[in-house]
Amino acid sequence: MSLTTTAPARRPALITGFTAPKGFGDATLRDRRADAIELLGGIPDPQLLPALELADATARVLARPGVPALQYSRTEGISPLREWIAAREGVPVERIIITNGGFHGLSLGIQTVLERGDLVAVDNPVFPLFLRGLELSAAQILPIRVGADGLDIDQLAGHLRAGAHPAALYTVPDFHNPTQGTLPAGARAELVRLAEHYGFTVFADNPYRELWYQGGPESTSVFNESDRVIHINTFTKTLGPGLRLGWVVVPAQLAPDIVALRSRQDSHSSTLVQAIVGELLTHDPGLFDTTLGRARRVYRGRAETLVAALEREAPGAFDATVPDGGLFLWPRLTDDALDADRLAADASAEGIEYQRGSFFPSGPGTDAARHLRLAYGHVPEAQLDEAAARLGRALRKQTGL
Ligand SMILES: Cc1ncc(COP(=O)(O)O)c(C=O)c1O
Repeated sequence: MSLTTTAPARRPALITGFTAPKGFGDATLRDRRADAIELLGGIPDPQLLPALELADATARVLARPGVPALQYSRTEGISPLREWIAAREGVPVERIIITNGGFHGLSLGIQTVLERGDLVAVDNPVFPLFLRGLELSAAQILPIRVGADGLDIDQLAGHLRAGAHPAALYTVPDFHNPTQGTLPAGARAELVRLAEHYGFTVFADNPYRELWYQGGPESTSVFNESDRVIHINTFTKTLGPGLRLGWVVVPAQLAPDIVALRSRQDSHSSTLVQAIVGELLTHDPGLFDTTLGRARRVYRGRAETLVAALEREAPGAFDATVPDGGLFLWPRLTDDALDADRLAADASAEGIEYQRGSFFPSGPGTDAARHLRLAYGHVPEAQLDEAAARLGRALRKQTGL
């Protein structure tokens, strides 16, 4: 029998149900000038990452007898990395599962907790990649406002009282992406109380937590003490996104489920990367905080420079404040008559790229489209001054002033 026809390739419903990636690859990312200043992604400054120390740690790890770092290892992650994280989080080591970064932790949470079609309450505006991750479970979303003090717990409580039954809630509690708000202690406790009372899981996504500028971070113990919270973290903003290394603090009863899921996927995160980072963190116990101390000072200085430069180059045009931490400015256009999309296009022509606020809403009821998200962490201060000058020129194309 001759096989002359070709059967069409099958694509499962899960894959065909994926919508086009939002934001990345959109108009703001095309046709940029060669000398464009990019304030797009929340990436750390390479100069602030401990590259030499990582090289030394790698050499020590590879010199160990039998080179265990090149072998298979446990699904949950390896010692001493897990112990180091558990001590920092203040939880038993059994509750720490090492991941391939924050987004992986979110995907694992989604697949462990949600049924297809479940309702999930989400930040509004929201970190859009979480919505992309939710497509894994074809979830419905319930947008909850985020303001200067993070998630609006009263609005959430109102929906719950009115009969909404979310299976989970997603929020970024510290230095929110994109709005920069931080959820105060009382609101954290109330969120956990609501989760326990109504029976939903909180995905507390916390990649910027360590990047506070003064006074230390808000406590996360209320999250780590609840069996209704999955607390997601990553070394992306502190040691570098290329490591693809993070962790989740999970309720004790969920740990075996995540391990079971993972043992049907990638088995475990790279033993080598875990061993290197574990060696880095334990060989010199002060190194992480010293590295972060430097980073916090630099990022804060850059935020202050950018706020001052915006006011100098476009007086009164932006309502911009220096955030308490993180890597983003979230200035609001003060003139509601301005076309924010046109501003982004004119800014691109002037040689500055940023994320438009309209990229972030998860539903109506937010003024996100009147904002710009400016990522300054990786940009030296002289370039931030130039970026603000370019933005000022773009603005004047509309105002004519
Ligand atoms: C709010 C938020 N969650 C998760 C992530 C993803 O982190 P990772 O690169 O470790 O996957 C980011 C990265 O920008 C983020 O801003």
